[in-house]
Amino acid sequence: MTAETITAATSTPATTPPTTTAATAAVSPGLIDDPAAHRVLTGDRPTGPLHLGHYFGTLRNRVRLQDQGVELFVVVADYQVITDRDLADRLAEHTENLVLDYLAAGLDPERATIFAHSAVPALNQLLLPFLSLVSVAELSRNPTVKDEIAHSRQSAVSGLMFTYPVHQAADILFCKADLVPVGQDQLPHLEVARTVARRFNERYPHADGGAVFPHPQALLSDAPMLLGTDGGKMSKSRGNAIPLGATEDETARIIRGARTDADRRIGYDPVGRPEVAGLVLLAALCQDRAPEAVAEEIGDRGAAALKRTVTESVNEHLRPMRARRADLAADRGHLRQVLRDGAERANAVADATLTEVREVMGAI
Ligand code: TRP
Repeated sequence: MTAETITAATSTPATTPPTTTAATAAVSPGLIDDPAAHRVLTGDRPTGPLHLGHYFGTLRNRVRLQDQGVELFVVVADYQVITDRDLADRLAEHTENLVLDYLAAGLDPERATIFAHSAVPALNQLLLPFLSLVSVAELSRNPTVKDEIAHSRQSAVSGLMFTYPVHQAADILFCKADLVPVGQDQLPHLEVARTVARRFNERYPHADGGAVFPHPQALLSDAPMLLGTDGGKMSKSRGNAIPLGATEDETARIIRGARTDADRRIGYDPVGRPEVAGLVLLAALCQDRAPEAVAEEIGDRGAAALKRTVTESVNEHLRPMRARRADLAADRGHLRQVLRDGAERANAVADATLTEVREVMGAI
């Protein structure tokens, strides 16, 4: 791993609420020299296809970590789907397609443990002691939860909405992960996981004084948050995303519909012209160049030229991944087997952690 590709959350980004400052401990220097000393966990909700925001935000970093020899767990957070909607619509299909996106992006199920958390009972049982460690006030202050409530499709806010960050702490801590690659919006949840770990260790030390859990750190990619085609954060629930598995024609159509402005001179001004800057950034990430250079090249040829550049860059960048995806998609049985194997490995780890937790708690 190099400093340019992945950095621990060493400073609080402007978009991150101040409550996350404590998640900013620097990554241990051992990461580069000693990948085997780390365990990484990260994951996604199976609510629909992964998009370019996921790819540049976290997916490609996961693959890099895996390829470095870091032990990697990837959770398909199926229970989290019902935080902001009543029904987990087409859950099995979304779950398999998520695995498809992972494998197409380069995750290797021989090396990475890919599992659904609903298939790991001991992980879920950790939620109960963990919930006892956080206050209702802390749960209701969580800025990401507040944002999700604002975009929720439900008329009433469920208890799960407030408590799922603690469930996410169980996702992370059941396997004692110390590094968690996430997008910036997840930093408040990382902070919950760190708080839970710290309080659990304080309240329930081993007889020899040793701690049960590590304090997990966020690994932020260097990619700034990708904007969707409407100028807002790229998000599958906001309908403004470019799915990794879209065809080249679909990609062209989505980008053609993106919001821009009337100024023919293309520049990179994320604050003043967020929609145009978002498109420029997308092309720049795909081309692995600076956004200013991409904008300069388009110059005063206007939004249509910008969109053509973005479409070509995205399609070219995703072509090998999409080809792998098409091959893998033909064998749904394989995708299900990957999940079964992952659940088996995750269960063994979760059972051991739960046994340890019950021990230090006095066999509760
Ligand atoms: N909440 C994350 C999201 O919506 C998904 C997730 C669930 C996750 N459990 C996790 C991410 C554990 C990192 C670690 O994207």
